[in-house]
Amino acid sequence: MLEISEVMCYNTEVKILAIESSCDETAAAIISGDPSSKNGKAELLSNVVVSQIDIFKSYGGVIPEVAARSHLEAILPVVHQAFSEAGLTKKGQDDWSQIDAIAVTHTPGLLGSLLIGTLTARTLAILHDKPLYAVHHLKSHIYANWLAVNEDEKQPQFPLLSLVVSGGHTQIIRMDEHNHFEIIGTTMDDAVGECYDKIAKILGLPYPGGPSIARAAKNGDPDKYKLPIPQIKDLDFSFSGLKTAVLRAVQKELGVPISFPSHELAGKLTEQQKADFAASFQKTATKILLNKLEKALEMYPDTKSIVIAGGVSANEDLRKTALAKFGNKTEVFFPALKFAGDNAAMVGAAAFYEIASGVSPTDPYKLNIMPRSEII
Ligand code: KG4
Ligand code: ZN
Repeated sequence: MLEISEVMCYNTEVKILAIESSCDETAAAIISGDPSSKNGKAELLSNVVVSQIDIFKSYGGVIPEVAARSHLEAILPVVHQAFSEAGLTKKGQDDWSQIDAIAVTHTPGLLGSLLIGTLTARTLAILHDKPLYAVHHLKSHIYANWLAVNEDEKQPQFPLLSLVVSGGHTQIIRMDEHNHFEIIGTTMDDAVGECYDKIAKILGLPYPGGPSIARAAKNGDPDKYKLPIPQIKDLDFSFSGLKTAVLRAVQKELGVPISFPSHELAGKLTEQQKADFAASFQKTATKILLNKLEKALEMYPDTKSIVIAGGVSANEDLRKTALAKFGNKTEVFFPALKFAGDNAAMVGAAAFYEIASGVSPTDPYKLNIMPRSEII
């Protein structure tokens, strides 16, 4: 049995099996690299993601109980597929002798979903006597930016500012070095991804809301509806006011009272009105995020890289506007699109840099999945 107090020393290449199940994607990946090498890069050997989007399209959102049951069905086949795609099976059996460590998302996320991934990882760690790395989900999103798609791709430089924009979080995080995080701005209420999802519902656009709004916005006028930019202190955000502002603007456009049921509004909107609302909202959301990032850059003038992370980082308007606004002064990084949403490759990358930073593994008998939004 592994002694948990001992810091693992790896002087050669390690292969990490990573597992992610925090929301509605069941994912496993295997990455390989030498954490002792300077500027060591990890290579992705396999990356399997089974999404529950098709299940939740008909519900218009994630049902936690259904998500957990679906993870339960998928998790072991997904882990097995990750071995197989990495070429690490022998006569159809997973070759555990090739794996040096296991990484898993332990928080934040939906309770039932996290339970499936963490219990699987803990059990596998005990069964196969492997060190276990419990990784914070937001850390993984940030480290998706280190997953090189090409050999010669640049990596972000420290100190950096990361804008983390997901379904549950909106934060600006400063990193002086690997595995060192300081939250310098956060949302006071809704996350930006949540706001995308809720506004998509008002407009009658399908789940998941972010990509639907981005698609509809392509045919819309981003200046058609004037939406407010919240005046929140320092580097903090607020998105609940923007959601209400869109609701009121839709009601006004349709000439209905504010008591009119929001779920009946979509049926009254034309496709063009939906597109115009989507484009106006998207433009405002991007502006709110990048205004704060601009303020953060003024406060931290030594910033060498900007790293945008989380599901909303897939947004084309956000990518283009951030590059246009900051790109000539500071290098701007986004994850490859396949690593922007939830996946296990990013969990493996985060664990790789934990190992490189000398972080000790977690006791699989004591793994903590208590809700925590602060990144560690
Ligand atoms: O990081 P993520 O996959 O899961 C969480 O950790 O929450 O983020 C999901 C969020 C959802 O709110 C989804 O609507 C949003 O990311 N999203 C987008 C886009 N793709 C996903 N938002 C805006 N534009 C997109 N293209
Ligand atoms: Zn996520």
